Order: sequence, then C-alpha cells, then structure tokens
Amino acid sequence: MSDHYFTAEPASPDQRRERTVSLRGADVQVQTAGGVFSPDHLDQGTEVLLREVPEPPVEGDLLDLGCGWGPITLALAGASPLARVWAVDVNERALDLTRRNAEAAGVAARVHAHRPEDVPEDVRFAAIWSNPPIRVGKEALHAMLRQWLHRLLPGGEAHLVVAKHLGSDSLLRWLDTELGPDFTADRAATAKGFRVLRAIRAD
Ligand SMILES: C[S@@+](CC[C@H](N)C(=O)[O-])C[C@H]1O[C@@H](n2cnc3c(N)ncnc32)[C@H](O)[C@@H]1O
Repeated sequence: MSDHYFTAEPASPDQRRERTVSLRGADVQVQTAGGVFSPDHLDQGTEVLLREVPEPPVEGDLLDLGCGWGPITLALAGASPLARVWAVDVNERALDLTRRNAEAAGVAARVHAHRPEDVPEDVRFAAIWSNPPIRVGKEALHAMLRQWLHRLLPGGEAHLVVAKHLGSDSLLRWLDTELGPDFTADRAATAKGFRVLRAIRAD
C-alpha cells in the first residue's frame, strides 16, 4: 500500500529535516520528515488559516485536528499561553514531530499530542483549528468532523481551511446543515484558492 501522509506508521525512512517557518509573524525552527504532510514547507492552506483566524481564546482546551508536524499546534500554543493544546493525528511520526517541535518551542508542558482515541472523553474545546485531511474521503472526513465538532463548548468556534478545488463549498453546506441545530457555519475568509470555513456552536 502506498505511504499516504495519514498512514499510522509511515514506511519511508524517518529522516529528519530542519526548517524555519513563519507562524503568525514568528520565525520558528522545526523538524519535519518524509511520511508526514507537507514536510518541506508550511502548507499554503495552513498559512492562509493562520493568517485569517482570529486570536484563539486565552485559556481552556484548544484542538488542532490532524496536527501533522505541528504548525497549527505551535501557533495555538504561542497565541494562548494559558491554554492546553490538544494535537491529534493518526500518524505516529507526525505526533512524535509535534512533541519534539513543542519541546523546542518551550511549550511542551501545554501541548498534548495524541492519537484520537487517547484524548480523554470528557475534554471539551473552546476552539478548534484544522487543516483537515480531505483526502481520507468524504465519509471518513464527515465522521471525523462530526465527532470532534460536537466536543466544542457552547459559543466555541471551529476554523477549517479547505482548498476550493477539494470541495470547500460542499463541505460548508454540510457543516451548515448536517451538524445539527446547535451549529451554524459560514465562510470566514477566502485567499489563494482556499476557504477558511467557520462552524459556531450556539451559546
Ligand atoms: C492536511 S494534513 C494537515 C497537517 C498539519 N496540521 C499542517 O497544517 O501541516 C491533515 C492531517 O490529518 C491527519 N489525519 C488523517 N486522518 C485523521 C483522523 N481520523 N484523525 C486525526 N487526524 C487525522 C493526517 O495524518 C494529517 O497529518
């Protein structure tokens, strides 16, 4: 089977690469590796998300759904010094890189990088930021979003970046109609062929 970025244990060699990336105006040294999403640079969609999202809540539990090597996690931890950031991924190498990059950034004590099933059931999120894994297919994507967005606190917001050519507009319709009466969704921003979608849980 080919080595997708969402493979649990990537078969490609875990050869680490040093990169400097700009996360919401701060230059950060990170390690990446083959077998994880966008190992050579900050993905353009992630860059759009980080530029367009409002400041996250200053405290509480925040979620980076599908953390990869951790750019969104590092941005959340940097923006909200009192918050706990949950970095979730199915790819063990991605989780390992996120832990290592959080350590190097001095935020490891507040970053919890786990497989989805290892996040305690009772954790509820004040905000969710994600560049979600569209390539897992619609059914798996919808199941994943349903599962995690229902763990938003009342008044909480999820911001998701999706390329227009990968179905951002149909995903927006799905978010607005299928999450249930507690949720509304809109398009918070558009840039460089990406949409930043926002789903809000009513107070
Ligand atoms: C588009 S990548 C984004 C990675 C990183 N956040 C970034 O911006 O560079 C999506 C990530 O979701 C992960 N993923 C796939 N299926 C998942 C699932 N069921 N639960 C959590 N993460 C998943 C993939 O392994 C991948 O790392």
